[in-house]
Formats: sequence, structure tokens, C-alpha cells
Amino acid sequence: MPTRREPPEVTLVATGRGSDLHNAARFGIRVVEARDPSAWQLWRSLGRMHLGSPTGKDALLLDLDVGQGPLARRLRSMRRDDPIGRACGLAKRTEMPTVLDPTAGLCRDAMALATLGCHVVAIERIAALAFLANDAIESSWLAERLRVVGGESLPTLAGMAGDRPPDVVYLDPMFRTPGDAQVKKDMQVCRALAGPPEDEAPLLRAALAVARERVVVKREVGGPALGDGVSFVVPGERVRFDVYLRPGAPR
Ligand SMILES: C[S@@+](CC[C@H](N)C(=O)[O-])C[C@H]1O[C@@H](n2cnc3c(N)ncnc32)[C@H](O)[C@@H]1O
Repeated sequence: MPTRREPPEVTLVATGRGSDLHNAARFGIRVVEARDPSAWQLWRSLGRMHLGSPTGKDALLLDLDVGQGPLARRLRSMRRDDPIGRACGLAKRTEMPTVLDPTAGLCRDAMALATLGCHVVAIERIAALAFLANDAIESSWLAERLRVVGGESLPTLAGMAGDRPPDVVYLDPMFRTPGDAQVKKDMQVCRALAGPPEDEAPLLRAALAVARERVVVKREVGGPALGDGVSFVVPGERVRFDVYLRPGAPR
């Protein structure tokens, strides 16, 4: 397995809110007193948390608003027979499954699944991404069904087999090449902080060992499957979902 590159440090500019300090400690983010435009930072402006890269020609700036704007519209328009819902087996069931998302990123897919009624635990190793997603989720209706955990997923998956395993594991490792689906600003931020994928095969193996019903892997159109044994494929607009059904699980 290739060695992981160290992600750039992202600090939080002190906001005066106790909950921000609490979450900084929870996700392991260092708090600093002042905004520094030459560094990656999280800061609150007009009530909303922002994540930005050092300023310059290719500077990246992001906030996650689940109340209004494109993300909110995407969530409001979600249907169970959308590709991600069909891939996770939601279209045909009445009781929604529990989902583990071990490659949570900014949790947009996890938010979509929670909006559709799933109870989701989302794990993300890049602290700043977990912090930003958690900030957006914590103060919204999503908090009832979506919990963000910071850290490495492999040990969690390994420890899960005997202990209330999820019905579905939803995997979205970084694509090898930033195709159409990963050129958006939020994916550029994820790529800049998370770097290329390096443990996707062990993640799939661990996911297959714990999922009670299925493992869903989001892939780039035309890209190779992550592993053998794909049961069926659900095509999406700019991505596809490879579904690995567990023995005896309903399609
Ligand atoms: C393509 S992004 C996921 C985007 C996400 N589906 C969304 O909707 O925002 C992949 C993420 O998986 C995370 N990741 C990859 N391997 C991981 C691991 N073993 N443990 C925790 N996080 C991991 C990366 O840090 C990266 O943020």
C-alpha cells in the first residue's frame, strides 16, 4: 500500500462559540486567534462556517448550506428511485436501512441518504472536512439521522462485524482522475486535502465483511470496478454505482 501523504493542517479561527470549540476538540482541530490568508483555515462569517485554502490564483473557498442554495435544492429534490437510492435498495422498501459511509468527505451523499430516511453514520479521516460537514448537519433536521465521526474507517469497520453491523455500506473513494463528477469546487477541496485514494481495496474488503445486505461503490463512468463480484450496476448522470449484494440479501 502506498504511504499516505500528510494533509495540510487546517486551523479554526476562534469564533467565540462554545460549540465550535467543543467540535474543534472533538475532531482534533487546532484553534488560532486570527485569520491567516496564507494558510488553510476554517472560520465563521455571517453565522456560516467557511473552509478556505491559502489565498491566491487557485484559492478554494467553501461553505455547506443545507438550508438554501444548490445543496439544499439537491436534498429537497431527492427521491428514493434516484440512482443513489436505487443502488442502496431504497426504492422497494418501506423500512429504511442503516448505512455506514466510511469515506464521508463533505457528507453530501450521506446527507442525501439521510434525507431519504436512512440512519447514517459517516466517517471521515480529514478533520476539517468532518468538522465542516458536522457543523452543517448539527444545526439541521439531518442531525436526527446522520452522525459524523472523525478518524480512520478501517479500524471501525474491522471492529463492527459482531456489533450491530450496518445494512448498507456506501463507499465513495476519491476517483483516480478528476472527471466531470469531481471538478466542482467542493470536490477540489476534498482532493486538495485528502489526496489520491490509497486504501480503497482494503475498504471494499472490510465493507463486504460487515454489510448485512449490500455494499455500494460510487465509480467514475468507464472506470474499473473496485473489486470482483459486482451484482449489478446502477448508472447515474455522471457516475455509476456498483452494487455488491450479500448472499441471500434482496435485490
Ligand atoms: C470522494 S470523497 C467522498 C465524497 C462524499 N461521498 C461526499 O458526498 O461528500 C472521499 C473521502 O474519503 C475519505 N477517506 C478515504 N479513505 C478513508 C478512510 N480509510 N477512513 C476515513 N476516511 C477516508 C477521504 O479523506 C475523502 O474525504
